[in-house]
Amino acid sequence: MPPHEENAVQAIVAAVFDSRKYDALSPEFVRAIAVAEAHKGRSFKETVKATKNQLHQSAAAYQIGRMDYDRWFDELRTAYTSAPTDDRRQVLRSVLARHRSTAERLPILDDFYTTIFAHLPPVQSVLDVACGFNPLAHAWMPLNQGAAYFACDVFADQVEFLNRFFELAGIKGEAEMRDVIQHPPSQPVDLALILKTIPCLEQIDRHAGQRLLDAVDARHLVVTFPVRSLGGRAKGMAAHYAAHFHSLVENRGWHYQQLAFSEELVFVVTTHR
Ligand SMILES: C[S@@+](CC[C@H](N)C(=O)[O-])C[C@H]1O[C@@H](n2cnc3c(N)ncnc32)[C@H](O)[C@@H]1O
Repeated sequence: MPPHEENAVQAIVAAVFDSRKYDALSPEFVRAIAVAEAHKGRSFKETVKATKNQLHQSAAAYQIGRMDYDRWFDELRTAYTSAPTDDRRQVLRSVLARHRSTAERLPILDDFYTTIFAHLPPVQSVLDVACGFNPLAHAWMPLNQGAAYFACDVFADQVEFLNRFFELAGIKGEAEMRDVIQHPPSQPVDLALILKTIPCLEQIDRHAGQRLLDAVDARHLVVTFPVRSLGGRAKGMAAHYAAHFHSLVENRGWHYQQLAFSEELVFVVTTHR
C-alpha cells in the first residue's frame, strides 16, 4: 500500500479505537474494514463513520448494554463455588441474555443442544466459530466428559472473559481473538459450531461463508441461520437462508439434515472428513 494510503488507514483505525465501544476489537479486523472503506473515495470523517457503522452491524450490535465482564465473572464464581447446579444455570442464562444471539436462543436452549446432539456421534472436540457468548451454554451441550472446546471471536475482552469462565467451570477450553474472514480456523475437531455466523461475515465479504466452510476441518458441522433480523422482521428469512445454505454446500458431497426450531434454522452436517 502506498505511504499516503497507509497513513490514511492508520488514522481511520486510530479514530475507531478512540471510541470505547470499539476499543476491544481485534486490530486486524478493524484494519481490514478500514481498508475496504478507505477505497470508497469518501472524506476522512465519512470513512470513519462508515467503518464504525460496519463494525457496529457485524459485531457491536450483538452486545446488549455495557459489557460488565468483571461483575458477571464474580456472579459466576459465586455460583460455581457455592450454588446448586440449577442456580448456576440461572446465572449463566442471565449472562447469555446480554448477547443478542444467545438471548434469542434462551427460549429454546433446553431443547436446542439435546435435539442437535441426538443426530451426532459422541463429540470429543468442538470449535465454536464467531462464538459470541455461546461457550457459556456449554452446560447444555451433551459433550463427552473432558471434551476440548475451542472458540473465537473479535473482542479481546470477551475472549478473556470466556477463558476465565473455562477455567472456573473446569472446561478444557481455549478462546482466542481471531478474524475468521481473514483467518478461518482449521484445527481438526469432531464438531464445528457455526451458529448464525455466515450472514454476519458475508455482510463484509460475500465469499467469507464459502471460504470458512472450505477451511474448517470437522467431521460434523452445525450451521445455523437466524429466522428474524436484529430488528425483529421475520418475513421469508428461513426460506432465504435455507436456499443460501444449499448453494454453499452443493457439490461438496456432504450429508445434512435440516432442523427447524422456532428461533433458528439449523443444519446438522456430516462432512466425511
Ligand atoms: C450473530 S452473532 C453469533 C454468535 C454465536 N455464534 C451465537 O450464535 O450465539 C455473530 C458473532 O460473530 C462475531 N464476529 C463478527 N465478525 C467476525 C469475524 N470477522 N471474525 C470472528 N468473529 C466475528 C461477532 O462479534 C458476534 O459475536
